[in-house]
Amino acid sequence: MGLKVKDIKSLTRGVKRSNKYYEERLDTTDEWILTRTGIENRYITEETPSEMAKDLADQLEFDRDKVKALIVASFSSDVRIPSIAGILHKRLELNNSCFSVDINAACAGFVSAMIMAERMLNPGEEAILVASEQVSRYIDFNDRGIAVLFGDGCAGIVVEKNDKLWLSDASTYGDDRVIVMDDNDFIQMNGQEVFKFAISKVPESLERLLERADLTGADIDYVAAHQANVRILEQISKRTGIDEDKVLKNIRERGNTSAASVPTLLYEYRDKFKDGDKVLFTAFGAGLIVNSVLMEW
Ligand code: ACO
Repeated sequence: MGLKVKDIKSLTRGVKRSNKYYEERLDTTDEWILTRTGIENRYITEETPSEMAKDLADQLEFDRDKVKALIVASFSSDVRIPSIAGILHKRLELNNSCFSVDINAACAGFVSAMIMAERMLNPGEEAILVASEQVSRYIDFNDRGIAVLFGDGCAGIVVEKNDKLWLSDASTYGDDRVIVMDDNDFIQMNGQEVFKFAISKVPESLERLLERADLTGADIDYVAAHQANVRILEQISKRTGIDEDKVLKNIRERGNTSAASVPTLLYEYRDKFKDGDKVLFTAFGAGLIVNSVLMEW
């Protein structure tokens, strides 16, 4: 059983910050950032994840009677109680047969939400999946190793359970050292360790899905991967044998928006996907987690 994507929306909020901004304030250069990460711009907003999620939810098209799950992925949520999902449930006037919940799986949150929805829905039922991140709240803008990497974002989809191809692969390595929050609530990361982890464990996860589906990289139409570093995306392509132009990218203009990166990518490339396309999703992050899905569009 699988999921049909019925609607996709994304917000672009805040100010666009180019590498120049950081070059003028930190010991870094446009050239270092672009060549080491593939990032040129990112958006930084004052709006909170709950504010953005409300605006996004107002734009999503869904069938109220069919929606049985509303899942909001955010590690940077501004609210603990009520949850963002609770706020949206009321705002969208969803009925009592829909459960609504916030989840935190860091950058892997949105793909986790997809996997949860597919496991919970019955055929014909719908879910609303939202990712809303104000990563900038948790960044020390004096830390050049972190500041240049991240941006803020919010995007979401409406899905309906169908009977098409769907396989998921989820792994968590329980490493609580390489990406953590410090005492000031700023992200601290051992970038090299995350990089090494990503370029080995993400391709392994995708290979497992291909093997289970009896497919090869050549059968895949698109890869929608978490946007953390363009060099990681290049390695995914190289190690899985999937053409580089099938590995979708928007990191240059948006940086790493944590859980919002995969749905934002889907929105930007929405006109490319055709019925029957085989699409791999994969996201990795603090945990350390890799969550991947192979589905037929
Ligand atoms: N400008 C200039 N120099 C810099 C900068 C910068 N912005 N940042 C680091 N450097 C320096 C370092 O200090 C180091 O200097 P040194 O050699 O004098 O010690 C040098 O550049 C090399 O540093 P590395 O860390 O080895 O650089 P690397 O090529 O590994 O790139 C990066 C760092 C971009 C962080 C990379 O490792 C990466 O992208 N890692 C993956 C991050 C990721 O995927 N995060 C996703 C999860 S996040 C989440 O879940 C919340």
